[in-house]
Amino acid sequence: MLPKTLVKTVLRATGFAIYRIPRAASEQQAGYSYSQAHPNATLAPWLSDAEFMAAFETAKHNTLVDIYRMYELWSLVRETAKVGGDIVEIGVWRGGSGVMMAKKETLLGGSGTIYLCDTFEGVVKAGTEDSDYRGGEHRDTDTSIVEDLASSLGVKNTKTLVGIFPDQTGAQLQSERIRLLHIDVDVYQSARDCVDFVLPRMPSGGVIVFDDYGFVGCDGVTRCVDELRARDDLTYVHNINGHALLIKR
Ligand SMILES: C[S@@+](CC[C@H](N)C(=O)[O-])C[C@H]1O[C@@H](n2cnc3c(N)ncnc32)[C@H](O)[C@@H]1O
Repeated sequence: MLPKTLVKTVLRATGFAIYRIPRAASEQQAGYSYSQAHPNATLAPWLSDAEFMAAFETAKHNTLVDIYRMYELWSLVRETAKVGGDIVEIGVWRGGSGVMMAKKETLLGGSGTIYLCDTFEGVVKAGTEDSDYRGGEHRDTDTSIVEDLASSLGVKNTKTLVGIFPDQTGAQLQSERIRLLHIDVDVYQSARDCVDFVLPRMPSGGVIVFDDYGFVGCDGVTRCVDELRARDDLTYVHNINGHALLIKR
């Protein structure tokens, strides 16, 4: 395990996390402005969602996604249930966010399959758009880690696709109706290829959630989303927790 990842893993196990924040009160990078955001609203619905809190207590050891973004994914499983169809996550790592979505679908009694897609060999397609990535990051995982988490949470509605999505595993996606797509791949070209492959299989009302939107160092994903905003068939929402949503019209 890389020293940086080891430190992060140890801290996470003790309830702490490290995030890169702007050096100054505000910072410019790759043409974007950054500043720590402190919303004035304090409503925290996750705290009174006992099923979420219980599941997150287990899943938090297997994820880089914080409780705010995790609760948004959990809520979107319910919000998109009325659209009908399956759920796809690209960028699974140790399974935290994907298995949490599968748990919510199970609790809802839904029939959707949650496709969990990862190389299990780390980030791919890092390029000139991505200031902090070189490729191979987050390779410290294995399918058995994801399977163990699914088993701990009593989840049986997942299918794991191993390899680069969509290049190597797109053909194994046996769904023509994707209601929710979670893209957590860290870099521009992977994010773009995932959208291009899934969008024709997404019905009206389907939602794409981009992790990494607005994190310093993930500027490739921010740029990818900002390009997609120009499309007439997508509505853009920026959540300052580090998510961007594109909703299919
Ligand atoms: C930040 S991690 C995912 C974190 C995870 N969602 C969680 O709950 O912590 C990013 C993952 O994306 C995967 N990845 C990046 N591009 C990919 C692609 N095109 N196909 C499959 N996996 C990819 C990497 O292997 C890595 O495990």
